[in-house]
Amino acid sequence: MTVSEPAAAPPAGQRAGTPVSAAAPAGAGPEPEPGAGAAAGPRRRTRQVIPADIADPALADAGTARINWAERASQVLRQVRERFESQRPLEGLTVAACLHVTAETAVLVRTLRAGGARVFLAASNPLSTQDDTAAALATRYGIAVFARAGVDRPTYYRHIHQVLDFPVVAANDTATMRLFDNTHGTGQSVIDGILRATNTLLAGKTVVVAGYGACGRGVADRARGLGAQVIVTEIDPVRALDAVLAGLRVLPMAAAAPLGEVFITATGSRDVISAGHLAAMRDGAILANAGHFDVEIDLRALYGLAAEVNAGVRQHTDEYVLADGRRLLLLAEGRVVNLVAAEGHPAAVMDLSFGCQALVLGWLAANAAGLPPGVHDVPGAIDAEVARLELAAMRTEIDEPTQDQQEYLNSWHHGS
Ligand SMILES: NC(=O)c1ccc[n+]([C@@H]2O[C@H](COP(=O)([O-])OP(=O)(O)OC[C@H]3O[C@@H](n4cnc5c(N)ncnc54)[C@H](O)[C@@H]3O)[C@@H](O)[C@H]2O)c1
Repeated sequence: MTVSEPAAAPPAGQRAGTPVSAAAPAGAGPEPEPGAGAAAGPRRRTRQVIPADIADPALADAGTARINWAERASQVLRQVRERFESQRPLEGLTVAACLHVTAETAVLVRTLRAGGARVFLAASNPLSTQDDTAAALATRYGIAVFARAGVDRPTYYRHIHQVLDFPVVAANDTATMRLFDNTHGTGQSVIDGILRATNTLLAGKTVVVAGYGACGRGVADRARGLGAQVIVTEIDPVRALDAVLAGLRVLPMAAAAPLGEVFITATGSRDVISAGHLAAMRDGAILANAGHFDVEIDLRALYGLAAEVNAGVRQHTDEYVLADGRRLLLLAEGRVVNLVAAEGHPAAVMDLSFGCQALVLGWLAANAAGLPPGVHDVPGAIDAEVARLELAAMRTEIDEPTQDQQEYLNSWHHGS
């Protein structure tokens, strides 16, 4: 996500999109509520042309329903939005975001609008865009959206360039994000994507998880919870040892390939499943990728090995038939399976990540002048604040350290 100040004009190239006429406040007031016409509400409104490139504005009703559903699970963002509505910390800023265009993202960008920002949004993956969500954002919520599901590669990159014409600030690497988003969110939703695409029974199956990082451990945990026998592959000895001590079997991919019935890559690297591994797999092996890019499974090698390809044997499932008749099932064309075949992370998970990003933007807006150039870490206090908001929403209380405890923890004079 990037932020630019002040918000004078859309970024270069922005005007190339299809303009969408949306009810928008005259001046910098909060965005119109869904369904609010130009005359609704006490403030004077004008019709404002918002640049956009979306599939079909007529999908806005379905998108609004989807966004409203995600809002219900977004307790953190709702609390942040209330704060933003009164404090307007993003007044005069233009925020450009490159994110999966889903209902959960919509809750975030609505929150940024409530803080006073103009928002430009491009899809971070060509297959994950929800066209109905994009339509609602562009036509009802005053967001400049550049996202259409299934666009070709040049259009995908054009959309990103149309939006990301600003200096970049990274707001993605926080403790809450790693834990809730990568581990719990990916863990559940990757399994969800595989089940939706195949309806396979995981109990008793041998599931190979490549990479035991934040995402891989979540996937491995959930697969095991459903009764699968999980094998982990790793290149990092510490992570591999962690997996062994968690009771998982660790093998090199070459040894795991003939054993696995479901393969899930979550490494952030390329060719983790390569030609030799594919050639050794069992009939019916399912291949799914949870990593960000479609490079973890060597798709060119898979295509090269196939004597026949049966695309769409189920939705998001393509069958590659090898010369000896074995069938390998590739899910979601090797792209992020949880976003393509399911709906990405549950809204409650994205609520935490996006709540953090919204607060980071508020912090940036207040502190930008004093910050030296470069990429900055998210202040630890914001991470803790997000966790506190979520705990409050869950009505979960925790202990406060006493003064004696604080002194003890901060000192090396006590104890023996
Ligand atoms: N699908 C989603 O919703 C989602 C969410 C967050 C992150 N991601 C993506 O998932 C990927 C992993 O993210 P992470 O946060 O778990 O990263 P991470 O760095 O915590 O973990 C990656 C792990 O993969 C291991 N690894 C690297 N190359 C390997 C190889 N050839 N074989 C086996 N293991 C290998 C690393 O040693 C590391 O332990 C990234 O591409 C990330 O962008 C996806």
